[in-house]
Amino acid sequence: MVSLFYQLLLIAMTAFALPLLSSSSSNTKHFHFNVEWKSVTRLCHRKAVLTVNGEYPGPTIAVHEGDHVRVLVTNRVATNTTIHWHGVRQERTGWADGPAYITQCPIGAGKTYTYNFSVANQRGTLWWHAHFSWQRASVYGAFIIYPRTPFPFSAPLQAHIPLIFGEWWNGDVEVVEKEMMLHGGGPNTSDAYTINGLPGPLYPCSTKDTFIQTVEPGKTYLLRLINAALNDELFFAVANHSLTVVEIDAAYTKPFTSPAIMIAPGQTTTVLLTADQAPVPGDDSKSMFVMAARPYLTSVFPFNNSTTVGFFKYQTSTEIQENSAIPPPFILPNNLPALGDTPFATQFLGSLRSLASDDYPCNVPKTIDKRIVTTVSLNLQDCPLNQTCKGYLNKRFYASMNNQSFVRPSTSILESHYRNLSTGFSTDFPDNPPYVFNYTGVNPVTENMSAEFGTKLFRVPFGTKLEIVLQDTNFLNPENHPVHVHGHNFFIVGRGFGNFDVEKDPKGYNLVDPPERNTVAVPMGGWAAIRLIADNPGVWFVHCHLEEHTSWGLALGFIVENGKEPSQWLLPPPSDLPPC
Ligand code: C2O
Repeated sequence: MVSLFYQLLLIAMTAFALPLLSSSSSNTKHFHFNVEWKSVTRLCHRKAVLTVNGEYPGPTIAVHEGDHVRVLVTNRVATNTTIHWHGVRQERTGWADGPAYITQCPIGAGKTYTYNFSVANQRGTLWWHAHFSWQRASVYGAFIIYPRTPFPFSAPLQAHIPLIFGEWWNGDVEVVEKEMMLHGGGPNTSDAYTINGLPGPLYPCSTKDTFIQTVEPGKTYLLRLINAALNDELFFAVANHSLTVVEIDAAYTKPFTSPAIMIAPGQTTTVLLTADQAPVPGDDSKSMFVMAARPYLTSVFPFNNSTTVGFFKYQTSTEIQENSAIPPPFILPNNLPALGDTPFATQFLGSLRSLASDDYPCNVPKTIDKRIVTTVSLNLQDCPLNQTCKGYLNKRFYASMNNQSFVRPSTSILESHYRNLSTGFSTDFPDNPPYVFNYTGVNPVTENMSAEFGTKLFRVPFGTKLEIVLQDTNFLNPENHPVHVHGHNFFIVGRGFGNFDVEKDPKGYNLVDPPERNTVAVPMGGWAAIRLIADNPGVWFVHCHLEEHTSWGLALGFIVENGKEPSQWLLPPPSDLPPC
């Protein structure tokens, strides 16, 4: 249906412009995003926050599988911006993907751009966020794709509730990033974590800014958990309730029940929660159940060691006024894992499986055409002469993949690729680490940690069955890195601690029902192997979704060439594509 639509579109198209789509088509959903400043107060700090339509967090986009989506973005601020539809595969529509300088030039002050794409063959919880500098600190929201067919799980659902975790800075986030890049030190940490923009009662002045969700006893709710935090992986749990995971990154899973979840920045996890406790009517302390999120810590860098709290409030009488709810005295859920609980994170992520049913088969490539092994690493560079550097040993922090620290060009790589220009980038990203060493066993501070700087991508023919092995290193410190791939979902066929062994480890891969995602949490001091079919022509960004690491260059790009059939070609750029 969708590809037929595109065939017709292609026939109707002039060389460089998408024609206006008929707005009478019932399957086209229109949205208007104004990127604008809005004054917001949290933790007794009032400041201008970059928002979409003045909302913090931003508006939810809800569409149905197969819909065509048009989002007209108007930039009403003085700085550049772009929006990324995180996890939407953008089949042939890379122009609408959003990462600045990868698939488009940014939308300048006062300018507009319409993101024009379809959502096909995926359903569930995704999200959208700004993809320019650190703007996603406040410019983010849920992107929900309703299925056209019934859920593969049977519980009758009372409601769907998005729970988006974010971070709040009292200061200006742009300044935090600028200062970090100027002096090469670690960034200032955020001042609070938030649930749907609300920090909750454990922060100063925040009791009134607490997320409270009323639930009916005995009913089951579908919670759409999204980690929009910039720099922190999170644990989440609800007191006295367990969570049944049914979907991750808009791909169904075999349902399994867990006392808590681990969710990395970029990831989504959809869970069922049944309000199965016996509340005491009239007693808030016995009818309000704490939900809490706090970091999963694997780094030695300074971090925000705090906890965001919200509540599920059982509706015990029809007279209860929802707005009278204030948090009662509470203790944190004892099922919330402790900061350094790597065993829990490992066991939780290891329990995820694709649904792999007749209706939702698992299309993991059983064989591969190409394997890329790449380190994911932090680096320490010497301080340039006459500068002050605030990184470890008065040097500068950077990050890299296969020792290449990714530098975003000043033009759009997708545009250069489309016009057959190779300006601003090269396609010689190394298939393997430049030299072999004990990746997870070297001395973290004495080993040579200088990266090379450049804009290196790799290029694969359409349809390539690709494996990418992501190998953490212990330069500076071993750390869990959430690596996100644009334009494709992938299957996590293996993960482990220590160094990947190309002879031994592939023998243990799950090629039956590995979890399908768009963001993989590479274990600290370990590796993860992902497989995908590179069948989406265009230029795709791959990066650590810890924003500080993206800024430091923990990224690469890859080009998927056009296939033989016109239906396997990247569409021409839209006429309103912003210039650089
Ligand atoms: Cu959600 Cu390139 O990121």
